[in-house]
Amino acid sequence: MKTEILGPFLTLDAADSDRMHLAAVFVAPQGVTVPAVQVQDVDYPAVRLAQIDESVIYRVRFAVPTDRASAYAWQGTTYDLASDLRGDLRIAFASCNGEEHGDMDREEAERNVMWARLGAQHEAAPFSILLHGGDQIYADEATLGHDLSHHWPKEVPKDPSRADLEDLRQHLRQGFLARYTALMAAPSYAWLCARVPSLAQWDDHDICDGWGSLPRSRTYSPVGQVLFEVAREMALLFQHGCRDGDLPARFHDPEGAHLGWVVAVPGLALVAPDLRSERTRRQIMGPGGWRMMEQIAAQPQPDRLLLLSSVPLLGPRLSLLETLMVLTPRMQKYEDDLRDQWQSRAHRAEWQRMLQLVCTVMQDGRCDVTALSGEIHLATRATMATGRGRALHQLVASGVTHRPPPQKWARFLGALAAFGDSPLPGHPIRIHRIPGQRQRYIAERNALLVTRQSDRWRAEWSMEQSGLTPALPI
Ligand SMILES: [Fe+2]
Repeated sequence: MKTEILGPFLTLDAADSDRMHLAAVFVAPQGVTVPAVQVQDVDYPAVRLAQIDESVIYRVRFAVPTDRASAYAWQGTTYDLASDLRGDLRIAFASCNGEEHGDMDREEAERNVMWARLGAQHEAAPFSILLHGGDQIYADEATLGHDLSHHWPKEVPKDPSRADLEDLRQHLRQGFLARYTALMAAPSYAWLCARVPSLAQWDDHDICDGWGSLPRSRTYSPVGQVLFEVAREMALLFQHGCRDGDLPARFHDPEGAHLGWVVAVPGLALVAPDLRSERTRRQIMGPGGWRMMEQIAAQPQPDRLLLLSSVPLLGPRLSLLETLMVLTPRMQKYEDDLRDQWQSRAHRAEWQRMLQLVCTVMQDGRCDVTALSGEIHLATRATMATGRGRALHQLVASGVTHRPPPQKWARFLGALAAFGDSPLPGHPIRIHRIPGQRQRYIAERNALLVTRQSDRWRAEWSMEQSGLTPALPI
């Protein structure tokens, strides 16, 4: 009988004026008890959240003070936490943690080399928070092997029976479970995630490739809806340590109709709109997501706002490319990919609305906004002038395990970047080089380190081949 427990995988539920509320997620074989978590000799018991086949998912909620370093213990191991959030601060950001095809068969050490680097960087100087900026898993192949979904999204049965849909649900739950538990079992990833509280916002591959940009006939088909429901259930369990009805306080909508969240710690707000739950071919966010963003813009601002936008908020003029692709039938698939972007012509009004919101947040001259994104499997950066000599910084770090596209594509995007874009008149967007790099788009696996030191913010990319970049003031 299997007795090994996976975990702890730590998530940051919420922060208030003096405490971080944390959740530790565990997966245990059925019949195996998960011991309590100890914080200063107080026991916090494990609560059962769900069962999938023989695997039971548990969660322990506890809190630690934010004015000092702290620790928790589990099964005889003490895990130190860099929980003093008042002064200097180190935050890690990663995205695109997998690949579309064959991700489960990759060699562990090769696949997770950037996680091991982040682990070493944590040992050298600890991170307080680990941000996951989208595509935490690549679920694409979970639809294979079931009659109803094997040809998703090309072919979808119109009127499947309820029993067959229930069978599909179990098939998909197994597929998602296999992917999440493979991550939890990967030593370098597990080591870091037990020591640094995670905050995640999903992107399409946490559901399926292009979710939200697919035609309505797919998204709203019975199969599409079961796929979304399972992906959401699994993201709540494994990325957020919760289930429907007990979403932690950071979520804007307690019902979770969208999974946008906000965490405020001294001098810093972390804001992560959900660009997938309410997405359609014609909209990126729905009323819930926009309500969250409008509320944030209307509130008193912190010194720094880190905006997690799973797809980059700033980039080259992709609408040019889109026009070319519409004219070329063979390029339909790529047109769908472009439709996933803020820069798509279909989303121009929403893109402008979001950029305008950022300008509003920055207008009192006190708050700086930095957008953190993944998605493109390249590293790059951009700025948008927001007025009075200030700029919104866009940092793109992707992927942490997804291998990069060909150099040619990176060069092509670099050339495209020469065509600037100004979706807001008078606020030009520019694509810049990362310090120490000769190209605008870097085709290496990478992650990002964002630090606050003596109230000054900097960013460094950790690149697979070229190592740690010189720090960029942001
Ligand atoms: Fe990705």
